Amino acid sequence: MATITLNPARSKGTIDKNIYGHFSEHLGRCVYQGLFVGKDSPIPNCNGMRADVVEALKRIQVPVLRWPGGCFADEYHWEDGIGPLEGRKRMVNTNWGDVVEDNSFGTHEFLELCRQLGCEPYINANVGSGTVREMAEWVEYLNSDGDSSVVRRRRANGRQDSWGVKYWGVGNESWGCGGNMRPEYYADEFRRYATFCRKYGENRLFKIACGPNADDYSWTATLMERAGRFMDALTLHYYTLCGDDWEHKGSATRFTPEEFYKTLVRALRMEELVSRHGAIMDRYDPQRRVGLIVDEWGAWYDVEPGTNPGFLYQQNTMRDALIAALTLNIFNRHCDRVVMANLAQTVNVLQAVILTEGERMTLTPTYHVFDLYREHQGAREVDCFVECDSTGLGDWRLDQLSASASQSADGLITVTVANLSASACADVALRGVQAEEVAGRVLSAPMDAFNDFDQQRVAPALLDARVENGCVDLQLPPCSVAALRIRPGRA
Ligand code: AHR
Repeated sequence: MATITLNPARSKGTIDKNIYGHFSEHLGRCVYQGLFVGKDSPIPNCNGMRADVVEALKRIQVPVLRWPGGCFADEYHWEDGIGPLEGRKRMVNTNWGDVVEDNSFGTHEFLELCRQLGCEPYINANVGSGTVREMAEWVEYLNSDGDSSVVRRRRANGRQDSWGVKYWGVGNESWGCGGNMRPEYYADEFRRYATFCRKYGENRLFKIACGPNADDYSWTATLMERAGRFMDALTLHYYTLCGDDWEHKGSATRFTPEEFYKTLVRALRMEELVSRHGAIMDRYDPQRRVGLIVDEWGAWYDVEPGTNPGFLYQQNTMRDALIAALTLNIFNRHCDRVVMANLAQTVNVLQAVILTEGERMTLTPTYHVFDLYREHQGAREVDCFVECDSTGLGDWRLDQLSASASQSADGLITVTVANLSASACADVALRGVQAEEVAGRVLSAPMDAFNDFDQQRVAPALLDARVENGCVDLQLPPCSVAALRIRPGRA
């Protein structure tokens, strides 16, 4: 019997709803075809945004959306994507498959998408091939209401009032595709660019610096030391691979039980990364003013056979649902430092929550995890201590259960728990609170089960959880993710 002990008296604080954020790049069929089909498309849309996709994303309450990249961000020139469609510049997307980018989805379209989703925009601006002036004028175009030529241009393009964009990324992966910079150099560049990203009226920017790749701890130390006081947050990118290198990342759907555990163990590395980068940040920022934003995370496999290698289209199985579950549990438990996270990527790219094919759409197992975890958004984290067996094969072993908990303003406690064993059930006793009532939902399927356009194999069902003398007991099927809502009794 495994035990999860809750201690509502201990908390790391509020789980920022932005931990449940997403990322949409001009890459493959994420923006074009996935989110945006254009006003003249036969696919039902509202101002060009796919109606089915927007509706599904609203259901999981997407709080924040990052755009336009990724590597694409450092080649993106915002002025190419404003004004009448016929006049927009065409370019070749050299990062992603050399396809023609016609800039029909630009600033106004992105902000219209965010309006429809009811989410905050997070714009990642160009440092690698841009200029300080270009970035400064983008901020002005978005956030100023002064009578400048830049603002007049926005008004001529149909938008009278400033949008008040808050989240502002200064370069992406500046250590790699964003310019191959050294941390010392980027720290100075960040300071320079950030200086000219002005506050207009009440529109204060939340300035986000490009942080490390995975375990590059010296990048974090250098950035924090040299530029920490100029930033509001630092990013971290970490992708989970199944194979041993970027040429052989492994198949999204065909894998052995050993590869299943290997992928989970690698995903679990997020715990160490967040802790160690957080500890370095603590040295320079003991008050924890600077947030950590994991604005690219998820599983990255070989593309689906027969698809464009530059489009990063992959299927999504129950294994990915477990990766999402354990990663979100880590972020919840580190909510005193992690203030935002953005799954890569929203639709049709990497660990997507939605896949589309023409007018058809399917929700992936990862989507359902975001749905199950919704109640954590903005809730107060509750300490939870897990005692359980280990699971795995060969060198790839880990705790069988991963969990996190929170309490929302109405007093209800949400516990999310994943059973990471491919074959064993888990009997779980939830202790630490006197429960009055419990309701649960569970997502459970064989490790390689996935949803396609004709068949839905992975969808949440009700979970049978019981309350007896204030204690909650339940059984989790193998390979499952559950969300429990507990009404505590009066002490
Ligand atoms: O998400 C795909 C790519 O991965 C992004 O463009 C880049 O930032 C990262 O390397």
